[in-house]
Amino acid sequence: MKFRQIALGVALAATMGMSSLASATEFTQDEKLWLGMKIYERAAGRGCGTCHDVKPFPDLTESVKKLSKDEFIKVVKEGRAGTIMTPMAPQIMKIGLVEKACMTEEQALDALHGYLLALANGEVKGKVKKPKSLKEKMKGCQ
Ligand code: HEC
Repeated sequence: MKFRQIALGVALAATMGMSSLASATEFTQDEKLWLGMKIYERAAGRGCGTCHDVKPFPDLTESVKKLSKDEFIKVVKEGRAGTIMTPMAPQIMKIGLVEKACMTEEQALDALHGYLLALANGEVKGKVKKPKSLKEKMKGCQ
């Protein structure tokens, strides 16, 4: 019994190791900020700002402080029923850049949330510069 448990553990660890090899690219903090900014600018064609940079719609740099990360991501995935805030995750996954960088939905939403939080905290001011490292990474990920 004991041996079987160990064998199972080893098999599981091996499978997990393989799946992490097959999973998407890892991104640095700078890469995530830039990708997050681009997602904000490009989601649903003209970006989240089409609505969120305009009053009276919620300013997302306020929302990231008010909502937990999970709550924020839930709204992006599911939308807000009965409002024009429709589920946005499918739109985000259609952005060419997100596809080219082989981002998972989790990575894309994490980058978007991280960018808005950095804006809210004043860590990011204005445009984020594209990290040079990203080009090679995007070439290699397909
Ligand atoms: C067509 C307009 C529109 C677009 C595009 C849009 N939103 Fe929204 N969003 C809204 C509206 C309106 C609300 C407020 C809904 C309500 O009354 O609760 C909202 C609410 C939210 C909230 C909750 C805010 C809070 O403070 O409670 C989040 C988070 C959010 N949107 C994220 C996004 C993100 C991220 C994107 C881009 C990927 C996006 N939205 C694109 C219209 C839009």
